[in-house]
Amino acid sequence: MIDLKVVKRDGTELSIQANPGCSVMEALRDNGLDELLALCGGCCSCATCHVYIEAGPNGTDHVGGADEDDLLDSSDHRQENSRLSCQIMLDQKMDGMILRIAPED
Ligand code: FES
Repeated sequence: MIDLKVVKRDGTELSIQANPGCSVMEALRDNGLDELLALCGGCCSCATCHVYIEAGPNGTDHVGGADEDDLLDSSDHRQENSRLSCQIMLDQKMDGMILRIAPED
């Protein structure tokens, strides 16, 4: 299992666990975080699964694909550490990653 720490929009922190091979969006949804809309279900077409990667072991990957980059450009809240959580596939090296849910656009 992979342990993730999540900071919600109201600042509340919680720890969740996820299986390798699922996306961060799926892990958040499966752990009951309903403030992440994820409207397109992970098809990289809505940008409603926006998160910030605050910290990650091994310098967790902050680079998404071109489609993800284009979608993030449409957000008023984009930062250097922005990612679409549906595009981050979890593997064991991400154990301990800290995520913050981005504000809603
Ligand atoms: S869920 Fe739609 S882009 Fe991630």
